[in-house]
Amino acid sequence: MTLRPHRNRRCQLSVPGSSEKMMQKAAGLGVDYVFLDLEDAVAPSEKRPSRKRIVDALNGLDWGRTTRCVRINDLTTEYAYEDIIEVVEGARENLDVIMLPKAMSASDVQFVDKLLSMMEKKLGLKKRIGLDALVEEVEAMMLVEEIAASTPRLECLIFGMGDYSASQGVSMRDIGGPTGYPGDVWHYQRQKMTIACRVNRIDAVDGPYGNFKAPDAFREECRRAMILGMVGKWAIHPSQVEIAQQVFSPLPEEVERARAMKKAYEEALAQGIGAVQYEGKMIDIAAVRIVNNIIDKADRLGM
Ligand code: COA
Ligand code: MG
Repeated sequence: MTLRPHRNRRCQLSVPGSSEKMMQKAAGLGVDYVFLDLEDAVAPSEKRPSRKRIVDALNGLDWGRTTRCVRINDLTTEYAYEDIIEVVEGARENLDVIMLPKAMSASDVQFVDKLLSMMEKKLGLKKRIGLDALVEEVEAMMLVEEIAASTPRLECLIFGMGDYSASQGVSMRDIGGPTGYPGDVWHYQRQKMTIACRVNRIDAVDGPYGNFKAPDAFREECRRAMILGMVGKWAIHPSQVEIAQQVFSPLPEEVERARAMKKAYEEALAQGIGAVQYEGKMIDIAAVRIVNNIIDKADRLGM
């Protein structure tokens, strides 16, 4: 039995933890998931003071149904452990998830898991804090199967193509943007990470698209990730939120068709038939397994 709670991650919006204004704006956007950043969006001189800004935003703003996450600094920095301690002690149950960037191995994730367990005990927290991790170094991509299986606290892996490009030496002008490579430059990485996530029943999410003034290109990146089985994509700007949440929601007609197909199959099964014609094509239990994913998504979104 898994202890992981279900959280919607059609869009994870990145918000600099140094900006009270942006955090305030983020709370009112109706996005599935927000992560308040202490890492790359925050200059070194602002990292320590931003912890308190983040705690105040978590405690003071009305986040509605939005999942509240904080991205800490990576485990090679002098900030990471105090990021966790200050944010968890300050926000307690007003924090849902900690996000670990630049995870390099299963033991990195396990370190954060153990620290969170200690803090939950000490503080007597009534709900478990979730853990998401970024796969954005070549080391992590090599070990992604171990990382995905590292701890039951882990809920999601994110493919961070910005740092990953640097790590692999991929030549890229804008984060997540076109490279001129024939085919999809991220086909292998997205497939590999998504398979590792599915094996471990955790979410796979696609990382950022830096050019927030190119909505069509952003939508296409969402679509590619969605087709492979990823559940969402990052947004770095409010204008990207609705696009991602749309693409990662099934269309009403798709849901209707999925439910009708399942019903037709069940009726056939009741008559002792395992494969039937539906809309002129063969359906069997495998076809129903495919559309069950759509039905599950729709159920979770209350469609
Ligand atoms: N979260 C919340 N609000 C945001 C936002 C974000 N990520 N990005 C922009 N906004 C707000 C702005 O404050 C502005 O609010 P206002 O209309 O009330 O003044 C509004 O959205 C429109 O912003 P705009 O003027 O188009 O852009 P900007 O110059 O203010 O910000 C960036 C552009 C790129 C600096 C900003 O989007 C940003 O910091 N993004 C996140 C960066 C990040 O987290 N990087 C690390 C992860 S990859
Ligand atoms: Mg990064």
